[in-house]
Amino acid sequence: MNILVTGGAGYIGAHTVVELQNAGHEVVVIDNLSNSSENMLRQVSKITGKKVTFHKVDIRDSQALDEIMKLYWFDCCVHFAGLKAVGESVMKPLAYYQNNVAGTLTLLEALSRHGCANLIFSSSATVYGQPKELPITEACPTGGITNPYGWTKCMIEQILMDLYRAEPAWNVALLRYFNPAGAHESGLIGERPRGIPTNLMPYIARVAAGRLPELQVFGNDYDTGDGTGVRDYIHVVDLALGHVKALRVMEQKGGLAVYNLGRGEGCSVLEMVHAFEQVNEVVVPYVIKARRPGDVAACYADPSKAERELGWKARLSIEDMCRSAWQWQKNQGKGSD
Ligand code: NAD
Ligand code: WQD
Repeated sequence: MNILVTGGAGYIGAHTVVELQNAGHEVVVIDNLSNSSENMLRQVSKITGKKVTFHKVDIRDSQALDEIMKLYWFDCCVHFAGLKAVGESVMKPLAYYQNNVAGTLTLLEALSRHGCANLIFSSSATVYGQPKELPITEACPTGGITNPYGWTKCMIEQILMDLYRAEPAWNVALLRYFNPAGAHESGLIGERPRGIPTNLMPYIARVAAGRLPELQVFGNDYDTGDGTGVRDYIHVVDLALGHVKALRVMEQKGGLAVYNLGRGEGCSVLEMVHAFEQVNEVVVPYVIKARRPGDVAACYADPSKAERELGWKARLSIEDMCRSAWQWQKNQGKGSD
């Protein structure tokens, strides 16, 4: 199939482009490079041995989208483009609503104009807010979110559900990612947070590399096994493969569907620290700090719907995530982007 990948130069997008190309799809990437660089796509080419067609386009630029869609015919759009920093979204809500929500509307209108009504959207477990049940199923209510970033995901989901209701010719998959982590086993692509990371895994990797003095563990008084926050970490390569499966099922069955993409297993902050230390034979100094505002105690998926309907199941372990994240961290500054 011919696939338009928005935000394909980013962390999850680049890993997904690898798996889409490996599965034989033709991929065109558009990205405004606001949080990535074109070099990521050169690295993708090294992995797959295939050229990645790239255009520097902002999804808010309707004219530029028209030009791309006149150049190529797309069977489906896999939509990753968006801003994703939770803390920044609290400081700059308008920028987040403008980029993520207005950008998606502009993209959807362009897709409509050019006859592409198939979309896979990067949603997030953040839409569940304070989860009402654990493990979280897709039937769990959404809302009660504590930051504008999370609301952009919730609003886009609503827009897509309304669109599908009004125009059932659309086929939409809402993929709710849990906590993506790790990097490609080649060590060529991975996550490159700008400045000091806010997510756990890249922070741990920088501490292990001696580039940050210690990890601050945000709270050890939660109602969890060891008192630290529990999340459902999922290897980015497993996540990428979930998109390839979703694409196939969408082609066969159509309609609108929501899927949790997680491993279905909780891992605490300290469990992650110890796994990273053990697998990579490094030391990760840490201090216990106060809880981070907006954090929930525990969040993990029931991913059985994706297994049943998509034939997808995460295969890679916490150890695989730790190993590949460390490999990627060690490659930084040596030409890998
Ligand atoms: P990322 O920042 O690495 O990738 C996003 C890409 O989108 C970047 O390359 C950026 O330059 C591009 N982009 C942003 N705004 C754009 C615009 N207006 N026009 C064109 N390109 C634009 O982030 P990621 O971690 O790869 O996340 C991909 C998607 O998955 C995002 O929508 C994110 O919200 C979602 N998601 C991420 C996580 C996570 O923890 N990483 C979890 C759940 C959902
Ligand atoms: C994980 C755990 C922290 C950093 C965020 C977004 C979510 C999604 C994924 C996009 C928590 C603890 C972290 C640190 C710590 N993104 N922690 N010290 O908050 O589950 O999810 O990223 O959709 O929307 O909210 O991920 O990696 O920030 O935190 O103790 O320096 O690690 O308190 O328990 P989170 P995270």
